[in-house]
Amino acid sequence: MSASTATDTRIEHLLARRVGDSRGRPTVEVEVHLACGAMGRAIAPAGASRGTHEAVDLRDGGDLLGGWGVRRALSELEHEIAPALLGRDALSQLYIDQRLIELDGTENKARRGGNATIAASMAVAHAAAAACGLPLWRHLAAGRRTRIPLPQVQIFGGGAHAGRRVDVQDFLAMPIGAASFDEAMVMCAEVYRHAGLLMAEAGRLRGVADEGGFWPEFASNEEALAMLARAIERAGYGPHQVSIALDVAAGEFGRDGRYRLGLDAIELDSEAWVERLVGWTARFPIVSVEDPVAEDDAAGMIRFTRAVGERVQVVGDDFLVTDAARVRAAAASGACNAALLKPNQAGTLSEMQAALEAARAAGMGMVVSARSGETEDVTIAHLAVGWDAGQLKVGSFARSERMAKWNEVLRIEETLGDGARFAGCEALGCASGRRAQIAAAHRSDKG
Ligand code: PGA
Ligand code: ZN
Repeated sequence: MSASTATDTRIEHLLARRVGDSRGRPTVEVEVHLACGAMGRAIAPAGASRGTHEAVDLRDGGDLLGGWGVRRALSELEHEIAPALLGRDALSQLYIDQRLIELDGTENKARRGGNATIAASMAVAHAAAAACGLPLWRHLAAGRRTRIPLPQVQIFGGGAHAGRRVDVQDFLAMPIGAASFDEAMVMCAEVYRHAGLLMAEAGRLRGVADEGGFWPEFASNEEALAMLARAIERAGYGPHQVSIALDVAAGEFGRDGRYRLGLDAIELDSEAWVERLVGWTARFPIVSVEDPVAEDDAAGMIRFTRAVGERVQVVGDDFLVTDAARVRAAAASGACNAALLKPNQAGTLSEMQAALEAARAAGMGMVVSARSGETEDVTIAHLAVGWDAGQLKVGSFARSERMAKWNEVLRIEETLGDGARFAGCEALGCASGRRAQIAAAHRSDKG
């Protein structure tokens, strides 16, 4: 369908089916067909280390498929969501999402299912873009400035994604010195490859965790950090070319102000835990730390951000759950300086966009993110570019549900040719003085 004939963008047909995700669990795929013949399709991702306040998936429970079945979510789509959206204009994303929110009527999409609403919302966006004859990112950008995002690439996977072999969930590489996404991918591939070689040399290569990062065989959380720093060095990069990011996902081992690190066999209060983390940021080239403390530990977030926020990006994931009001509150209290943004935490694209714009307005960093349960769906690559988020986190540099997203950004960058602007370290949420410092150090590394 060409753009010139795409006149009637009303939704004619919405259908939903069960497909499988990267953990082999069922998930929801939605197809939206418009009167003009354009079609959009999207699949809901699924998290494992979830925030308490995020949109919830509707799952069947019971024995079949481990309780992860999506029959109820499909039924909501067929009997409630489809009838409510038929005849509506797919170009009016905000209106469509408002209908979904009203139809659900709960705080957390518990009635219709966040898996149902996000798949429908994203499929509508894809159909609208197709009707306009545009790639989704360009449709979303609507003529505004876009940048190609700086990636966060997982090298070791831990926490809930690796049988809690280490407590910290993600040890990631950030190619802050790359000049383009294409170069960033080469740098991350080299770090991933060298990390694998180091693990093999140490006799610790055991396969990969849920997001494709190496399965962590370490004696302590800090040893994993040291190994990543060594892999970066071995790959030939200085700390201003490739830096380290952590997603601590501290809510998985912290509760009521107590942090129990299974691998380190230690229990710390919030102050002592934050102090330990601050120490890591001083000893290792860390530029970004996500969910340093549990989501109920706002005081800990503020303490950590006060201590390191000038030089380190502090990202709220479970702490913010892609919610605009929480983003604004965090900006006001100084709890963090960047927001992680996941479509299915919000449950509709419009709510996710509102959270992203709240972060932008507050001068915070914006990181569009995948979930640990993913599929071939590459919508987030388009959201990161189209909404000019500046950063993208999709897991490791292995397994096609991850590579599909990285590959999609490569294609977008190629399409833009000389017009492509890579966000680089300018996208970090830490103080602009620190960003300038990193950029200068990178230039002198090169020079
Ligand atoms: P999840 O983890 O998708 O398993 O919730 C991803 C993250 O914490 O960023
Ligand atoms: Zn996280």
